[in-house]
Amino acid sequence: MFRIPESVAELGRKRIEGFPVEGFVYGEGPQNPEIMLIGEAPGEFEIVDGIPFIGRAGKELMKSLATIGLTREDVYITSAVRSRPYKWGTKKERDGTVVKRKYNRPPTQKEIIAHAPVLDYELTHVQPKLIVTLGNVGLQRLLGKEAKVTELHGQLITGPIRHLESLDGSTFGWTEKTYSIVPTFHPASIFYRPSHRPALEADWLEIGRLLEGS
Ligand code: URA
Repeated sequence: MFRIPESVAELGRKRIEGFPVEGFVYGEGPQNPEIMLIGEAPGEFEIVDGIPFIGRAGKELMKSLATIGLTREDVYITSAVRSRPYKWGTKKERDGTVVKRKYNRPPTQKEIIAHAPVLDYELTHVQPKLIVTLGNVGLQRLLGKEAKVTELHGQLITGPIRHLESLDGSTFGWTEKTYSIVPTFHPASIFYRPSHRPALEADWLEIGRLLEGS
């Protein structure tokens, strides 16, 4: 199992202080795995147990992995941001009372920059055969805003990726090293866009084929 050093986790915790986020979930999985999965950020369930992708989206993700003969233990799972971004909203209880509660939200660019050194460390040290980005947040963290999952999903992209140039700035540069990346949809996206399911399934079969050929 690979785990980032405490000093890197501490840096991540410090850099995200003051943002509306909570918890810190470590990336999880072996060094030199078949795949490194890069999601958005943990949600309400992940921060309770400290395990990535254990909510509803996680169950979908495990089904996709199973279609190519892999389990959670075979892959390294992480995300662009390691804390749960939340926003306050209201919820009506069964008895009609209205309560305030936290809802998940996508991470902001500033939060992605705050946790960039954490993901950069993982990208340098985990060394997977293939990186699979789940949704636009993970994809754009690696390849920039122009990269769109709807256009690039299921395609093998080989090239450098973005990393934060310095700890006191917000500029990304490109790595010297070349990585192999296959973007696909975030597993939660099919809950609100079920029409994406066939494309998502085809992407995973392609990922399986690429691993067999590697
Ligand atoms: N989405 C993510 O990106 N990561 C999780 O752990 C859960 C949902």
